[in-house]
Amino acid sequence: MQLKKVVFPVAGHGSRFLPATKATPKEMLPIVDKPLIQYAVEEAIDAGLTELIFVTGKTKRSIEEHFDASLNINVTNITESKKRLFDEMNHIIPDHVSCTYINQEEPLGLGHAILQAKPIIGDEPFAVVLADDLIDSKKGVLKQMTEQYVDINSSLISVQKIQKKDSIHYGMIDTETSNGSIRKLTGIVEKPNPDDSPSNFGVVGRYIFSNQIFSCLETIGFGTGNEIQLTDAIKKMIASQSVFAYEFEGTRYDCGDKLGYIKANVEYALKDKKFGNKFLSYLKQKIL
Ligand code: UTP
Repeated sequence: MQLKKVVFPVAGHGSRFLPATKATPKEMLPIVDKPLIQYAVEEAIDAGLTELIFVTGKTKRSIEEHFDASLNINVTNITESKKRLFDEMNHIIPDHVSCTYINQEEPLGLGHAILQAKPIIGDEPFAVVLADDLIDSKKGVLKQMTEQYVDINSSLISVQKIQKKDSIHYGMIDTETSNGSIRKLTGIVEKPNPDDSPSNFGVVGRYIFSNQIFSCLETIGFGTGNEIQLTDAIKKMIASQSVFAYEFEGTRYDCGDKLGYIKANVEYALKDKKFGNKFLSYLKQKIL
């Protein structure tokens, strides 16, 4: 079945990024000049997905407004260049792409957030993107994954090699051996201690799921941190159907974490066509 739908869970506490996230979702934090959620949306559209579903929480308005609001290009005295810029901003979402916003009343975990999308997803497969995992890559990671999905037609989760000492921050996977970038999942553990981690592959925020993930999410109950954990649902899914891990190409920044966010800003600022070189000179001055 063709992939059309993508879920963006954007209703988390964002507690690692307080006070910035007190009234603003962390997904609206900018990397240089673009909010994280816009990078995620552009990645999804580039992968050919056309139905965007945002699971929002109490600070949802800014996300909805970012994609739906129109800048007024008919004001008097507006310059042509500003008019072009405003017009571009009014077309972030192309006409063939739709947006739906659904509410997660309480942030009861990533698994719970995804479950809120069930009535809209129906029986189709769908993608999930966590916008706070920003991935810099030549080809968008979701596009890499949709290409793999055409061949394997099974649920697929993105993974990267991490240092084992960092396993306490990731869902860690166990797989059958393989020389390629695709491995069949045999196990998954949420944030294990390094000694208990089954591998050095950690899960990153890009997924493609068959709709069977919903029945798993509905039956697992509350897990670690008293939240409905996506990891637990994936573990349950492995028992009844194939799930694959995909080692993507790209550099990932954990922008839900202050240091990861700052690193992403530095890297993207250095690549900026207008001021990247000036920024590099500035950094050199600071360091040398
Ligand atoms: P995180 O694990 O980063 O949790 O969520 P968080 O609550 O947002 O952040 P911290 O740990 O308190 O700093 C991963 C993704 O899942 C979404 C978040 O918005 C983020 O995109 N999420 C998480 C929800 O939408 N709802 C939830 O209940 C939990």
